[in-house]
Amino acid sequence: MSGREIKMTDKLLDIQHLGVRFEIGSMFHKSGLRAVHDVSFSVDRGEIVALVGESGSGKSTIARLICRLEKPTSGRIVLDGKDVLTSEPGAAGKEYRRRVQMIFQDPFGSLNPVHTIAYHLARPMQIHQTIDSKDRRSRILQLLNTVGLRPAEDYIDKFPHSLSGGQRQRVAIARALATGPDLICADEPTSMLDVSIRVDILQLLTDLRNEQKTAFIFVTHDLAAARQLADRILVLYAGQLVEEATSDELIATPKHPYARLLLAAAPQKGGSLETPLPAKPGTPQNVDPEPGCPFSERCNEVMEMCRQKTPGWTFLENNRRVRCYLYGDALATEGDDT
Ligand SMILES: Nc1ncnc2c1ncn2[C@@H]1O[C@H](COP(=O)(O)OP(=O)(O)O)[C@@H](O)[C@H]1O
Ligand SMILES: [Mg+2]
Repeated sequence: MSGREIKMTDKLLDIQHLGVRFEIGSMFHKSGLRAVHDVSFSVDRGEIVALVGESGSGKSTIARLICRLEKPTSGRIVLDGKDVLTSEPGAAGKEYRRRVQMIFQDPFGSLNPVHTIAYHLARPMQIHQTIDSKDRRSRILQLLNTVGLRPAEDYIDKFPHSLSGGQRQRVAIARALATGPDLICADEPTSMLDVSIRVDILQLLTDLRNEQKTAFIFVTHDLAAARQLADRILVLYAGQLVEEATSDELIATPKHPYARLLLAAAPQKGGSLETPLPAKPGTPQNVDPEPGCPFSERCNEVMEMCRQKTPGWTFLENNRRVRCYLYGDALATEGDDT
């Protein structure tokens, strides 16, 4: 269903060694929380890439970094060959924000109850001056149509409280589309919606990609949803990527022990979208982590070397990669660059 046949060779976004460290603790006892560490991946034009991992693994932080809602401590964010971190602030930064939009998890909190739907959709057009003010209303009607809120005239002057969760999330998607973005980061866009509505929203995102060639970074803890929507899946553990493969390959033959653990608890092919990730035997350890593979504490195939140095990437066929000593002689990476 997801148009995976489309050949995509055109790189849109390139994330290089992205990292962020938050300062936490009290005035007297400060410590660092390494939320995202040495994350590199790319997204092609019109491609859907899923970012999968359990709660606290850094998915939202990566989405927020890419949408420039958070500042990284290290790394580069390159859009169409241009490093956004060095070209900001100013016009280049604003253009980046126009091209890279975000959809949040909570369709209730992300819309302002005192404003109409028309206001929410006009605002980004106003900020980015993408549409003449006289043409805005017809463009808003068109956007409402695109996201399936029809007839659009029935919705345009409503307030968010009179809409259902699914309808509000459609408004949030329309708002993200209002600037004509090339990339949308969707942070668990269906997790707060009724199960019956989730499939429709995922279908809408698929349609947008197919019809408008919008690329998506789809953040989810739901492997079945990732498989349904995405071309590729990136698996994140404790702020680090541990595996990347096409969705079909990752689901068929997960390589990293953590990816295998996720799959073991995930629904079988075509299974329900509701199944959660496994109960956590331990919290991903990312507060001033020890050297070594972040998963070594929980891995039942752990070897001595895993605890000493973080494995680098082993590259497999078909642009597949895995960060684990079980797969060849991956170069060990030296500790910390965040
Ligand atoms: N602004 C912040 N300040 C301190 N810690 C944060 C902040 N944002 C996120 N974190 C921490 O970073 C880690 C990753 O969080 P997050 O990206 O929200 O994970 P996920 O979306 O995968 O559940 C968590 O331990 C979270 O508590
Ligand atoms: Mg999150």
